[in-house]
Parts: sequence; C-alpha cells; structure tokens
Amino acid sequence: MVQKTARERIEELRETIRHHEYLYYVLDSPEISDADYDKLMRELQSLEKEHPELITSDSPTQRVGGKPKEGFAKVPHSRPMLSLDNAMSEEELRDWDRRVRQLAGPGQQISYVCEYKLDGLSMALRYQQSEDGAAHLKLGLTRGDGLIGEDVTTNVRTIRSVPLSIPAAKLMKAKLPADFEVRGEVVMPLAAFEKANEEREAQGLAPAANPRNFAAGTIRTLEPNIVAQRRLDFYAYFALTPAGEDLFQEQSQALDALAAAGFRVNPHREAIDSFEKIMDFIQRAEQHRATLGYEIDGVVIKVSSTELQQRLGYTGRAPRWAIAYKFTARAGITQVEDIRVQVGRTGKLTPVAVLTPVLIGGTTVSRATLHNADEIDRLGLLIGDWVRVERGGDVIPKVVEVIEDKDHPRGKRKFQFPSLCPECGSEIVRTEGEADYRCVNADCPARLRESLLHYASRGVMNIEGLGEAVVNQLLERKLVRSIADLYKLDESALLSLDRIGEKTARSLLREIEQSKKARLDRVLYGLGIRFVGERTAQLLAEEFGSMDAILSASQEDLERVNEVGPKVSQAIHEFFREEKNRELVEHLRQAGLTLTAEKRKKTSQLEGLTFVLTGTLPHLTREEAKAKIEAAGGRVSGSVSKKTSYVVAGEDAGSKLDKAHELKVPVIDELKLLEMLG
Ligand code: IVH
Repeated sequence: MVQKTARERIEELRETIRHHEYLYYVLDSPEISDADYDKLMRELQSLEKEHPELITSDSPTQRVGGKPKEGFAKVPHSRPMLSLDNAMSEEELRDWDRRVRQLAGPGQQISYVCEYKLDGLSMALRYQQSEDGAAHLKLGLTRGDGLIGEDVTTNVRTIRSVPLSIPAAKLMKAKLPADFEVRGEVVMPLAAFEKANEEREAQGLAPAANPRNFAAGTIRTLEPNIVAQRRLDFYAYFALTPAGEDLFQEQSQALDALAAAGFRVNPHREAIDSFEKIMDFIQRAEQHRATLGYEIDGVVIKVSSTELQQRLGYTGRAPRWAIAYKFTARAGITQVEDIRVQVGRTGKLTPVAVLTPVLIGGTTVSRATLHNADEIDRLGLLIGDWVRVERGGDVIPKVVEVIEDKDHPRGKRKFQFPSLCPECGSEIVRTEGEADYRCVNADCPARLRESLLHYASRGVMNIEGLGEAVVNQLLERKLVRSIADLYKLDESALLSLDRIGEKTARSLLREIEQSKKARLDRVLYGLGIRFVGERTAQLLAEEFGSMDAILSASQEDLERVNEVGPKVSQAIHEFFREEKNRELVEHLRQAGLTLTAEKRKKTSQLEGLTFVLTGTLPHLTREEAKAKIEAAGGRVSGSVSKKTSYVVAGEDAGSKLDKAHELKVPVIDELKLLEMLG
C-alpha cells in the first residue's frame, strides 16, 4: 500500500517537474518560482532515495549520471551530417534560387523555409520506443567528421530543453513515431556565457572566446556535472527516421511536429514562396540579431518539400536544397603591432593589442582586448603575430587565435607584463585567485581619467563633449581632481583649454548642468563601483529609493535585491566605506544632483498593470515584450490569476489562454499591446 502511494506520488512529481522544465527551458515562460521548483525536485529526490527500485532513467533527477569512462565512443551517423554552402551576398543567393528553380523544372511551385542560423554545434539525438510506448532518449551524437560522431549522451542529458522521454499521447498528437532521430543545434545563451565567463575570471581563468567555443568545449567535457551547471539549449531543426530518412513531406511540418513533441524549435521561422520575402526575412533577422539572447550568424534557407529535396540532391559535402546566407563577417585577420597595458577605473590592468587597422563588419578595428596576462600565455601571442580578431554584438573586439602559415609568419618579440603601474609607477598586485593585476594607488591618474570618461559616457550621465581630449586636458591642468569637480567648472576654465571656443565651452557647461537631472540609477552606475552595472544600479535605485539608503545599507540588506550576491554587495560596501567616496557623494549632493529615485510612476502608461505573455507574438520576442512593458511601468508575471490585468496572446498560446478565459481576464494581441505602449 505504502509502496503504491510512493509510486503514484513519484509519477505525479515527475510529471509536474517535466511540465515546469518545459515551461522554463523550452518556452521561456515559467509559472512557478525557482524555490518552488527546487522543493518539488527535493521531494522527488528524497522519495527516490527511499525507493531506489522506482528510479527510472528518464526521471528529472537522472539528468546528471555517471561520467563517460574514457573519452567518447564513436558511432556512425544514420545519414551524413553535412554542412551548408554559403551565400555571402544577395547576388549569390539569387543564383542559388535560380538554380533550384531550374533543377526543379518548369512550373514547379517552390516553397522555402527560412530559419535562423544558430551559431553553435550540431547534434543528433536518437529516441527509441520503450514498453510504455513513450520515446526515450538513447543517444546524443556530435557531428564529428560528418560520418561518425561522438557519443556525448551523458552530457546531452543534462540539457534541460532536451526531453529525456516523450509520452505516447504527446507523440501521437505531434504525429511523431516513437523511434526517430532529431537533429539540431546546441547553443549557449549569451547570459549563460557571460555568467560562466565571469565565474572563470573570478577563479583566475582566462575567459572563453565566444559562446560557440564554450558550448563545444562544454559538450565534450568528461564531467557531466559541469555541463549541468552551464546552461545550454538545444534547438531542433530536422526529424528523421532511425535509418536517416525524412519523416515528413515538408520541412515546415517537421518543425511544427518537433515543437508539438516538446522540443525547443526556434519560433523565428517562416514558410516563404518568393525571393523578395527571403531578403525581407534576412533583413529582419539581421536587425533582430543584436537583441536575441543567443548568437546567430546568418539565415538558413531550405526547400520545404522533402520530395524536391531528394530530387535536388547533394554536391560533395552540402545539399543543393539548402543554403546559408551569412551575415557580414564579424571577424578579420590582422597583425599585432604592439601590446600596451591600460589601467581601468577600478585599477585593473588590461593588456590591449594594438593592431594594423582592419575592417570588421563595417567598423575599423585597431585595438583588441587581451583580457589579462594569462590570456596572452594561452594564446601564445608574440608581438608581430598575425591574429584572428572577432567582434561579437556590441562587445569590444578580441583576439581569438594566432594564425600561422606561410603567408602569416610568427612574430618574434615576447611581451613582458609590467611590474609597476604603467601610468603612475605604483606597485601592482594580483589577489590570490584572480586573473587581474591592479594598481594599488587609489589616486592613479589613469583611474581618475577612466572614471571621468565612464561617468560622462552615453550610457551613463550622457555628457556630450566630455571625451578623451577634454578629460586629458582637465586632468593635466589639474582643473578636475574628482568627478564632483566637473560641477565646479566655469566658462573661463574651459576656455583655457586647447581647441575650445566659447560655443563649445557653453554647450559643454549646458551638458554638465543637464546631467544634474539624471536619475539616481545613472548616478549610481556613474560612480564606477565594481560589479555595479547598469541593471544592478537600476535594481538598487528602485529598491532603496535614495543614495543615502544604499550608502547605509548592510551587505545583508543589499543582497535582498534580486541579482545582488555576496560579491556585488561586498564591492558596494567596500566602496562606500572609503571616506573619499562618501565625500564624492556629498559633493555631488551639494552640486545639486538627484540622489533620490525619480518617481517615474505617474508618467508611465502601464503603471499598476500586470501582464502575462503566452504564445509566439508576430514581431516581439518574449524578452522584448517584457522589457517594453516594464519600461512603461507594468509588470510581467508568469502565471494568470485574478490579479492579472491582461493576457497577451500570440500564436500557439497554451494553457494560460484557457486560464484567462476561465478567470475572465481580458486577452489582447501584440498590436493592442503596442497601442497601449503608445
Ligand atoms: S541545416 C544539411 N539549419 O550550420 C543541412 N543548420 O553550416 C545542414 N546550423 O552544420 C544543417 N542553424 O551546425 C541547419 N537552422 C539551421 C541551422 C544550421 C545552424 C548549423 C549546423 C550546420 C551548419 C552548416
């Protein structure tokens, strides 16, 4: 009897946990808090501990299993995993489209599917029917050489958006057999990449170059524990039979079926029937790229009909029926002319490569960060080397590898990391466990210069005209010794600087005056406290409401703010413990800055309203919609209740829509939301 209830409860818990994992990891739309999820998981773990005979391999507790013993076994692919030919321009894409139409024969109606080209690593997953009719994940294979892959099943199992099993009923609904293979891309979301890199830096390790390398390295570690800690996602894009044959007649059907079976399928996909619409999709994708949350490097265009795919066939290593339109390259090769060390506003010493200028993705790049001394060692970089430089999103360009071939001979000179601060000659120190050296001199001129530049920059106090040239002169002439001194400048002081006339001086003074009205979170961000970025500053300002409250908050108080952990709270605490910094705040107050949080509530149009998002909206991603609502003062919640003001429903809206109808919560679409946002 006891046994039966335990069995029932275990089943119930598994189902609930799977459902919430699906909402969280596949739909990005959690309905319960992390704490509640942990509670369910703990209950399941303890029941399974009491009844080990009831543990099944597809239980959510079994994602992290034993280590693969030695290396990864090699397994042949059911059908080769090919790469794609690239089109680098509209011209080349047009040629491809023409070829497809020609080969297809006259009068053939052609429908394409456009998908994002995810910048990760491809993976094949095999599912097999078990006794209960469900499909169970049996094998996860990397691409390998395209013909033979590596069995990384233990690691793939830790990816939460990969279902370990799919119940028979769900398969039936999705029109998917229980024996099948799914192919797709493993990617590391940018947020996870940044977080993992921060942790690496905190441990004194060199940061990984980009999310793709990090994801690839992660999938191939022999420590499933590590894989489980880093968030990876799997996006499905092909469904095959176990023998490697197509399962559906259309690519668009395959994608819909995979989504219905519970896989994460990129919502940004479109069936398209004209060349113009392909170009339109590409343009939108390129714009969308910067705000996506994961990296894409192009668009894949596939002939939708599998029958036509077969007729078109393959050339060497790539299908004729698909092509990758690559976005403008964001990497380039150039030579390292020198390595210099910069001192940042926190005193951190960063080695920077001085490059022969090279055009990358439309921008001339002449410097690239090398992060720290370890990174130079890791790259094995010598001055004079040819290197590959990458520029991702809006991040600072970085050197990713040293190139060596007959056209690119190695450099000769080894770089010596300085033993003293290159700006002020003070001692530099490296704290145990950290990768960075820091200048110990709190009054190092470089630190002040960088602080001023940060304070004035566009994302912070936005003081236009206060760039490097002006700041350098202000410092040289000792007109400014702290941020607060900016507010003591007058016209005659500015006119004493080179290349500043009356007009410029007045406009700069106006800008400085204007900055006094900046919101508290901007001022806080502008102070340049370690780890306090834009978002943390916003959260702190919202939570505490005034600079004084933040200044006198205990570390414990600070940590009550979402996203503030011990590292951040300690940095804030240390910052305000310094007399000099308290004085700075005092001087800013005297200068007339706003040191209380602005009540933006009255002016915001969605104040007091709570929204729940469900389904795929036609234009906005979920993150974008959320950001817009919050910026207008509204709240976004994960679940529908009587307190919900509106449910915003898109395509494939799920149970939340039913709940909205049930509770008579008004349902609106994206257009209406945009109207409300004005
Ligand atoms: S289709 C034979 N679809 O791009 C068809 N590939 O350059 C090949 N990729 O190896 C794959 N997103 O790793 C396809 N939506 C997508 C993709 C995609 C990213 C990767 C994949 C492939 C490489 C080809």
